[in-house]
Amino acid sequence: MALLQKLFQKALLTNLRAYSVNSLQKPPKILITGGLGQLGVECAKFLRQKYGQQNVILSDIIQPNLEVANDGPYIFADILDFKGLQKIVVDHRIEWLIHFSALLSAIGEQNVPLAVRVNIEGMHNVIELAKQYKLRIFVPSTIGAFGPDSPRNPTPNITVQRPRTIYGVSKVHAELLGEYYYHKFGLDFRCLRFPGVISSDPPGGGTTDYAIAIFHDVLRKGHYQCYLKPDTRLPMMHVRDALNALSEFLEAPNEILNRRCYNVTAMSFTPEELAEKMIKYVPDFKITYMPDARQEIADSWPQVFDDSEARRDWKWNPQVDLDNLVEIMMREVKEKIASNGF
Ligand SMILES: NC(=O)c1ccc[n+]([C@@H]2O[C@H](COP(=O)([O-])OP(=O)(O)OC[C@H]3O[C@@H](n4cnc5c(N)ncnc54)[C@H](O)[C@@H]3O)[C@@H](O)[C@H]2O)c1
Repeated sequence: MALLQKLFQKALLTNLRAYSVNSLQKPPKILITGGLGQLGVECAKFLRQKYGQQNVILSDIIQPNLEVANDGPYIFADILDFKGLQKIVVDHRIEWLIHFSALLSAIGEQNVPLAVRVNIEGMHNVIELAKQYKLRIFVPSTIGAFGPDSPRNPTPNITVQRPRTIYGVSKVHAELLGEYYYHKFGLDFRCLRFPGVISSDPPGGGTTDYAIAIFHDVLRKGHYQCYLKPDTRLPMMHVRDALNALSEFLEAPNEILNRRCYNVTAMSFTPEELAEKMIKYVPDFKITYMPDARQEIADSWPQVFDDSEARRDWKWNPQVDLDNLVEIMMREVKEKIASNGF
Protein backbone atom coordinates (compact mmCIF):
# COMPACT_ATOMS: atom_id res chain seq x y z
CA MET A 1 0.00 0.00 0.00
CA ALA A 2 2.80 2.39 1.04
CA LEU A 3 4.69 1.45 -2.14
CA LEU A 4 1.63 2.12 -4.29
CA GLN A 5 1.20 5.51 -2.64
CA LYS A 6 4.89 6.33 -3.23
CA LEU A 7 4.64 5.33 -6.90
CA PHE A 8 1.51 7.42 -7.33
CA GLN A 9 3.16 10.46 -5.74
CA LYS A 10 6.22 10.02 -7.95
CA ALA A 11 4.02 9.86 -11.06
CA LEU A 12 2.19 12.96 -9.90
CA LEU A 13 5.43 14.90 -9.37
CA THR A 14 6.85 13.83 -12.73
CA ASN A 15 3.64 14.98 -14.37
CA LEU A 16 3.77 18.33 -12.58
CA ARG A 17 7.48 18.77 -13.24
CA ALA A 18 6.78 18.38 -16.95
CA TYR A 19 4.48 21.42 -16.80
CA SER A 20 7.13 23.47 -14.99
CA VAL A 21 9.95 22.57 -17.37
CA ASN A 22 7.84 23.24 -20.47
CA SER A 23 6.70 26.59 -19.20
CA LEU A 24 10.22 27.70 -18.30
CA GLN A 25 11.72 26.82 -21.71
CA LYS A 26 9.61 29.38 -23.54
CA PRO A 27 7.16 32.01 -22.35
CA PRO A 28 3.81 30.42 -21.48
CA LYS A 29 0.71 31.26 -23.50
CA ILE A 30 -1.73 32.67 -20.97
CA LEU A 31 -5.50 33.23 -21.01
CA ILE A 32 -7.08 35.56 -18.41
CA THR A 33 -10.83 35.12 -17.87
CA GLY A 34 -12.96 37.94 -16.41
CA GLY A 35 -10.15 40.19 -17.54
CA LEU A 36 -11.97 43.54 -17.64
CA GLY A 37 -12.40 43.75 -13.87
CA GLN A 38 -10.25 45.52 -11.31
CA LEU A 39 -7.41 42.99 -11.48
CA GLY A 40 -7.46 41.68 -15.05
CA VAL A 41 -6.33 44.71 -17.04
CA GLU A 42 -3.40 45.42 -14.70
CA CYS A 43 -2.53 41.74 -14.63
CA ALA A 44 -2.38 41.57 -18.44
CA LYS A 45 -0.09 44.64 -18.56
CA PHE A 46 2.17 43.14 -15.92
CA LEU A 47 2.42 39.68 -17.52
CA ARG A 48 2.82 41.08 -21.05
CA GLN A 49 5.94 42.92 -19.89
CA LYS A 50 7.26 39.65 -18.58
CA TYR A 51 6.22 37.14 -21.24
CA GLY A 52 5.56 39.25 -24.34
CA GLN A 53 2.50 41.12 -25.56
CA GLN A 54 1.13 38.34 -27.79
CA ASN A 55 1.49 35.64 -25.12
CA VAL A 56 -1.13 37.06 -22.78
CA ILE A 57 -4.73 37.02 -23.98
CA LEU A 58 -7.25 39.03 -22.04
CA SER A 59 -10.90 37.91 -22.21
CA ASP A 60 -14.30 38.83 -20.80
CA ILE A 61 -17.94 39.02 -21.90
CA ILE A 62 -18.00 42.82 -22.07
CA GLN A 63 -16.54 45.24 -24.58
CA PRO A 64 -13.09 46.66 -23.80
CA ASN A 65 -12.35 50.38 -24.09
CA LEU A 66 -9.95 51.47 -26.82
CA GLU A 67 -6.95 51.61 -24.50
CA VAL A 68 -7.41 47.96 -23.48
CA ALA A 69 -8.17 46.86 -27.04
CA ASN A 70 -4.94 48.50 -28.25
CA ASP A 71 -2.80 47.09 -25.46
CA GLY A 72 -2.74 43.47 -26.70
CA PRO A 73 -4.88 40.48 -27.69
CA TYR A 74 -8.46 40.68 -26.41
CA ILE A 75 -11.21 38.11 -27.09
CA PHE A 76 -14.75 37.28 -26.00
CA ALA A 77 -14.88 34.33 -23.58
CA ASP A 78 -17.92 33.32 -21.55
CA ILE A 79 -16.86 30.93 -18.80
CA LEU A 80 -20.32 29.35 -18.92
CA ASP A 81 -19.71 28.19 -22.51
CA PHE A 82 -17.51 25.10 -22.26
CA LYS A 83 -17.17 24.49 -26.02
CA GLY A 84 -16.26 28.11 -26.58
CA LEU A 85 -13.51 27.81 -23.98
CA GLN A 86 -12.22 24.59 -25.59
CA LYS A 87 -11.99 26.38 -28.94
CA ILE A 88 -10.00 29.25 -27.43
CA VAL A 89 -7.53 26.92 -25.70
CA VAL A 90 -6.99 24.93 -28.91
CA ASP A 91 -6.86 27.89 -31.32
CA HIS A 92 -4.47 29.90 -29.15
CA ARG A 93 -2.44 27.00 -27.74
CA ILE A 94 -3.12 28.14 -24.17
CA GLU A 95 -0.88 26.71 -21.40
CA TRP A 96 -1.74 28.76 -18.32
CA LEU A 97 -5.23 29.85 -17.31
CA ILE A 98 -5.76 32.74 -14.90
CA HIS A 99 -9.38 32.53 -13.85
CA PHE A 100 -10.59 35.93 -12.64
CA SER A 101 -14.30 35.81 -13.60
CA ALA A 102 -16.48 36.10 -10.51
CA LEU A 103 -19.26 38.02 -8.83
CA LEU A 104 -17.69 39.56 -5.71
CA SER A 105 -19.04 39.56 -2.14
CA ALA A 106 -21.44 42.51 -2.09
CA ILE A 107 -22.68 42.02 -5.68
CA GLY A 108 -23.06 38.26 -5.14
CA GLU A 109 -25.45 38.82 -2.23
CA GLN A 110 -27.64 40.92 -4.53
CA ASN A 111 -27.94 38.15 -7.15
CA VAL A 112 -27.33 34.74 -5.62
CA PRO A 113 -28.49 32.61 -8.62
CA LEU A 114 -26.13 34.47 -10.95
CA ALA A 115 -23.28 34.18 -8.44
CA VAL A 116 -23.89 30.42 -8.28
CA ARG A 117 -23.72 30.20 -12.06
CA VAL A 118 -20.66 32.38 -12.59
CA ASN A 119 -18.68 31.40 -9.49
CA ILE A 120 -19.58 27.72 -9.15
CA GLU A 121 -20.68 26.46 -12.61
CA GLY A 122 -17.98 28.61 -14.19
CA MET A 123 -15.39 26.99 -11.92
CA HIS A 124 -16.61 23.52 -12.99
CA ASN A 125 -16.00 24.50 -16.60
CA VAL A 126 -12.54 25.95 -16.20
CA ILE A 127 -11.25 23.17 -14.01
CA GLU A 128 -12.42 20.49 -16.45
CA LEU A 129 -10.90 22.52 -19.24
CA ALA A 130 -7.59 22.72 -17.38
CA LYS A 131 -7.65 18.98 -16.79
CA GLN A 132 -8.45 18.13 -20.42
CA TYR A 133 -5.70 20.32 -21.85
CA LYS A 134 -3.19 19.95 -18.97
CA LEU A 135 -3.16 23.67 -18.22
CA ARG A 136 -1.63 25.27 -15.18
CA ILE A 137 -4.61 27.01 -13.58
CA PHE A 138 -4.59 29.92 -11.14
CA VAL A 139 -7.80 30.73 -9.26
CA PRO A 140 -7.78 33.57 -6.73
CA SER A 141 -9.55 33.01 -3.44
CA THR A 142 -10.13 35.59 -0.76
CA ILE A 143 -10.32 36.50 2.92
CA GLY A 144 -14.07 36.06 2.25
CA ALA A 145 -13.50 32.29 2.21
CA PHE A 146 -13.49 32.50 6.02
CA GLY A 147 -16.45 33.15 8.30
CA PRO A 148 -17.51 34.03 11.83
CA ASP A 149 -16.28 30.68 13.21
CA SER A 150 -12.74 31.23 11.88
CA PRO A 151 -10.06 32.77 14.11
CA ARG A 152 -9.89 36.39 12.94
CA ASN A 153 -6.62 37.72 14.36
CA PRO A 154 -4.61 36.09 12.98
CA THR A 155 -6.33 33.77 10.47
CA PRO A 156 -3.99 30.86 9.67
CA ASN A 157 -3.67 29.08 6.33
CA ILE A 158 -5.54 26.03 7.54
CA THR A 159 -8.47 26.61 9.89
CA VAL A 160 -12.27 26.47 10.04
CA GLN A 161 -13.87 27.93 6.88
CA ARG A 162 -17.60 28.51 7.21
CA PRO A 163 -18.29 31.67 5.14
CA ARG A 164 -21.75 33.29 5.20
CA THR A 165 -21.73 34.84 1.71
CA ILE A 166 -22.34 33.03 -1.57
CA TYR A 167 -19.03 34.53 -2.73
CA GLY A 168 -17.20 32.90 0.18
CA VAL A 169 -19.02 29.60 -0.29
CA SER A 170 -18.10 29.56 -3.99
CA LYS A 171 -14.45 30.29 -3.19
CA VAL A 172 -14.21 27.49 -0.63
CA HIS A 173 -15.77 25.25 -3.28
CA ALA A 174 -13.12 26.39 -5.79
CA GLU A 175 -10.29 25.75 -3.30
CA LEU A 176 -11.53 22.26 -2.47
CA LEU A 177 -12.28 21.32 -6.08
CA GLY A 178 -8.83 22.49 -7.16
CA GLU A 179 -7.09 20.54 -4.42
CA TYR A 180 -9.17 17.48 -5.29
CA TYR A 181 -8.20 17.69 -8.99
CA TYR A 182 -4.57 18.08 -7.96
CA HIS A 183 -4.60 14.95 -5.80
CA LYS A 184 -6.81 12.89 -8.11
CA PHE A 185 -5.56 13.91 -11.57
CA GLY A 186 -2.25 15.71 -10.98
CA LEU A 187 -3.77 19.01 -12.17
CA ASP A 188 -1.41 21.95 -11.60
CA PHE A 189 -3.95 23.98 -9.61
CA ARG A 190 -2.68 27.07 -7.76
CA CYS A 191 -4.67 29.40 -5.55
CA LEU A 192 -3.86 32.50 -3.51
CA ARG A 193 -6.26 33.91 -0.97
CA PHE A 194 -6.01 37.65 -1.58
CA PRO A 195 -7.04 40.31 0.93
CA GLY A 196 -8.72 43.50 -0.34
CA VAL A 197 -6.69 44.57 -3.38
CA ILE A 198 -6.20 48.32 -3.76
CA SER A 199 -5.60 50.02 -7.10
CA SER A 200 -6.71 53.21 -8.81
CA ASP A 201 -9.05 51.23 -11.12
CA PRO A 202 -12.74 50.94 -10.25
CA PRO A 203 -13.45 48.05 -7.84
CA GLY A 204 -15.89 45.23 -8.70
CA GLY A 205 -18.40 45.31 -5.82
CA GLY A 206 -16.54 43.80 -2.86
CA THR A 207 -16.61 44.61 0.85
CA THR A 208 -13.12 46.14 0.87
CA ASP A 209 -13.99 48.62 -1.95
CA TYR A 210 -14.12 51.54 0.51
CA ALA A 211 -10.31 51.63 0.57
CA ILE A 212 -10.39 52.61 -3.14
CA ALA A 213 -13.56 54.73 -3.21
CA ILE A 214 -12.25 56.92 -0.37
CA PHE A 215 -9.38 58.23 -2.56
CA HIS A 216 -11.69 59.08 -5.48
CA ASP A 217 -14.28 60.82 -3.31
CA VAL A 218 -11.80 62.73 -1.17
CA LEU A 219 -9.90 64.02 -4.20
CA ARG A 220 -13.05 64.93 -6.14
CA LYS A 221 -15.45 66.06 -3.41
CA GLY A 222 -13.38 66.57 -0.27
CA HIS A 223 -15.46 64.10 1.76
CA TYR A 224 -16.24 60.40 1.97
CA GLN A 225 -19.13 58.53 3.52
CA CYS A 226 -17.86 55.14 4.64
CA TYR A 227 -20.17 52.09 4.70
CA LEU A 228 -18.05 50.40 7.40
CA LYS A 229 -17.54 51.44 11.02
CA PRO A 230 -14.33 53.40 11.73
CA ASP A 231 -12.67 50.53 13.63
CA THR A 232 -13.34 47.73 11.09
CA ARG A 233 -9.97 46.08 10.59
CA LEU A 234 -9.41 44.17 7.33
CA PRO A 235 -6.32 42.78 5.56
CA MET A 236 -5.29 44.64 2.38
CA MET A 237 -2.59 44.81 -0.28
CA HIS A 238 -1.64 47.07 -3.19
CA VAL A 239 -2.26 45.65 -6.66
CA ARG A 240 1.49 45.73 -7.40
CA ASP A 241 2.05 43.26 -4.55
CA ALA A 242 -0.95 41.16 -5.60
CA LEU A 243 0.46 40.80 -9.13
CA ASN A 244 3.96 40.08 -7.85
CA ALA A 245 2.51 37.38 -5.62
CA LEU A 246 0.53 35.89 -8.49
CA SER A 247 3.46 35.89 -10.86
CA GLU A 248 6.03 34.53 -8.34
CA PHE A 249 3.61 31.85 -7.23
CA LEU A 250 2.79 30.82 -10.81
CA GLU A 251 6.49 30.42 -11.56
CA ALA A 252 7.34 28.57 -8.35
CA PRO A 253 8.46 24.99 -9.00
CA ASN A 254 5.96 22.47 -7.74
CA GLU A 255 8.60 20.86 -5.55
CA ILE A 256 8.71 23.82 -3.15
CA LEU A 257 4.94 24.12 -2.73
CA ASN A 258 3.55 22.39 0.34
CA ARG A 259 0.03 23.59 -0.46
CA ARG A 260 -2.10 24.47 -3.46
CA CYS A 261 -3.82 27.39 -1.56
CA TYR A 262 -1.88 30.05 0.33
CA ASN A 263 -2.91 33.11 2.33
CA VAL A 264 -1.11 36.29 1.18
CA THR A 265 -1.34 39.78 2.62
CA ALA A 266 0.64 42.97 3.06
CA MET A 267 -1.05 44.97 5.87
CA SER A 268 -4.23 45.39 7.95
CA PHE A 269 -5.90 48.71 8.72
CA THR A 270 -9.23 50.31 9.65
CA PRO A 271 -11.04 53.14 7.80
CA GLU A 272 -10.03 55.47 10.64
CA GLU A 273 -6.33 54.58 10.32
CA LEU A 274 -6.43 54.99 6.53
CA ALA A 275 -8.13 58.39 6.83
CA GLU A 276 -5.46 59.52 9.31
CA LYS A 277 -2.71 58.79 6.75
CA MET A 278 -4.64 60.64 4.03
CA ILE A 279 -4.90 63.84 6.10
CA LYS A 280 -1.24 64.53 5.33
CA TYR A 281 -2.23 65.00 1.65
CA VAL A 282 -5.70 66.57 2.02
CA PRO A 283 -5.74 68.19 5.49
CA ASP A 284 -9.33 69.41 5.47
CA PHE A 285 -11.22 66.38 4.13
CA LYS A 286 -14.22 64.97 6.02
CA ILE A 287 -15.13 61.34 6.61
CA THR A 288 -18.52 60.23 7.93
CA TYR A 289 -19.67 56.71 8.73
CA MET A 290 -22.95 55.05 7.78
CA PRO A 291 -22.56 51.25 8.01
CA ASP A 292 -24.72 49.18 5.65
CA ALA A 293 -25.11 45.43 4.91
CA ARG A 294 -21.41 45.19 4.11
CA GLN A 295 -20.60 45.73 7.81
CA GLU A 296 -21.98 42.29 8.66
CA ILE A 297 -19.82 40.72 5.96
CA ALA A 298 -16.70 42.55 7.16
CA ASP A 299 -17.40 41.51 10.76
CA SER A 300 -17.22 37.85 9.72
CA TRP A 301 -13.91 38.18 7.86
CA PRO A 302 -10.27 37.96 9.03
CA GLN A 303 -8.82 41.08 10.61
CA VAL A 304 -5.21 39.99 10.28
CA PHE A 305 -4.18 37.35 7.77
CA ASP A 306 -1.37 34.92 8.59
CA ASP A 307 0.65 34.40 5.40
CA SER A 308 3.71 32.83 7.08
CA GLU A 309 3.40 29.65 4.99
CA ALA A 310 3.69 31.61 1.71
CA ARG A 311 6.67 33.52 3.13
CA ARG A 312 8.32 30.25 4.15
CA ASP A 313 7.59 28.10 1.06
CA TRP A 314 8.04 30.43 -1.90
CA LYS A 315 9.55 33.46 -0.16
CA TRP A 316 6.55 35.75 -0.47
CA ASN A 317 7.54 39.24 0.65
CA PRO A 318 5.26 42.26 0.09
CA GLN A 319 6.81 45.62 -0.80
CA VAL A 320 4.06 48.22 -0.33
CA ASP A 321 3.17 49.28 3.25
CA LEU A 322 0.37 51.65 4.32
CA ASP A 323 2.46 54.83 3.88
CA ASN A 324 3.59 53.78 0.37
CA LEU A 325 0.05 52.75 -0.49
CA VAL A 326 -1.43 56.14 0.38
CA GLU A 327 1.34 57.94 -1.51
CA ILE A 328 0.83 55.79 -4.64
CA MET A 329 -2.97 56.04 -4.56
CA MET A 330 -2.96 59.82 -4.07
CA ARG A 331 -0.71 60.24 -7.09
CA GLU A 332 -2.47 57.73 -9.37
CA VAL A 333 -6.04 58.73 -8.54
CA LYS A 334 -5.14 62.41 -9.11
CA GLU A 335 -3.72 61.45 -12.54
CA LYS A 336 -6.85 59.44 -13.38
CA ILE A 337 -9.16 62.29 -12.42
CA ALA A 338 -7.07 64.73 -14.49
CA SER A 339 -7.07 62.49 -17.56
CA ASN A 340 -10.62 61.10 -17.69
CA GLY A 341 -12.61 62.50 -14.82
CA PHE A 342 -13.05 59.10 -13.13
N1 LIG B 1 -10.36 42.79 -6.15
C1 LIG B 1 -10.11 42.26 -4.95
O1 LIG B 1 -9.93 42.96 -3.96
C2 LIG B 1 -10.05 40.76 -4.82
C3 LIG B 1 -9.69 40.20 -3.57
C4 LIG B 1 -9.66 38.81 -3.44
C5 LIG B 1 -9.92 38.01 -4.55
N2 LIG B 1 -10.25 38.59 -5.74
C6 LIG B 1 -10.58 37.71 -6.86
O2 LIG B 1 -9.86 38.11 -8.01
C7 LIG B 1 -10.68 37.91 -9.18
C8 LIG B 1 -10.75 39.21 -9.96
O3 LIG B 1 -11.30 40.19 -9.12
P1 LIG B 1 -11.74 41.60 -9.69
O4 LIG B 1 -11.78 42.52 -8.54
O5 LIG B 1 -10.95 41.94 -10.90
O6 LIG B 1 -13.27 41.27 -10.10
P2 LIG B 1 -14.28 42.18 -10.94
O7 LIG B 1 -15.63 41.98 -10.38
O8 LIG B 1 -13.75 43.56 -11.05
O9 LIG B 1 -14.22 41.49 -12.39
C9 LIG B 1 -14.79 40.25 -12.65
C10 LIG B 1 -15.02 40.13 -14.15
O10 LIG B 1 -15.68 38.88 -14.41
C11 LIG B 1 -16.45 39.08 -15.58
N3 LIG B 1 -17.49 38.07 -15.76
C12 LIG B 1 -18.72 38.01 -15.19
N4 LIG B 1 -19.41 36.97 -15.70
C13 LIG B 1 -18.61 36.36 -16.61
C14 LIG B 1 -18.77 35.25 -17.49
N5 LIG B 1 -19.91 34.56 -17.54
N6 LIG B 1 -17.74 34.91 -18.31
C15 LIG B 1 -16.57 35.62 -18.27
N7 LIG B 1 -16.38 36.69 -17.46
C16 LIG B 1 -17.39 37.06 -16.65
C17 LIG B 1 -17.04 40.48 -15.38
O11 LIG B 1 -17.45 41.01 -16.64
C18 LIG B 1 -15.89 41.23 -14.74
O12 LIG B 1 -15.16 41.99 -15.68
C19 LIG B 1 -12.03 37.42 -8.68
O13 LIG B 1 -12.10 36.02 -8.81
C20 LIG B 1 -12.04 37.80 -7.22
O14 LIG B 1 -12.80 36.90 -6.46
C21 LIG B 1 -10.32 39.93 -5.89
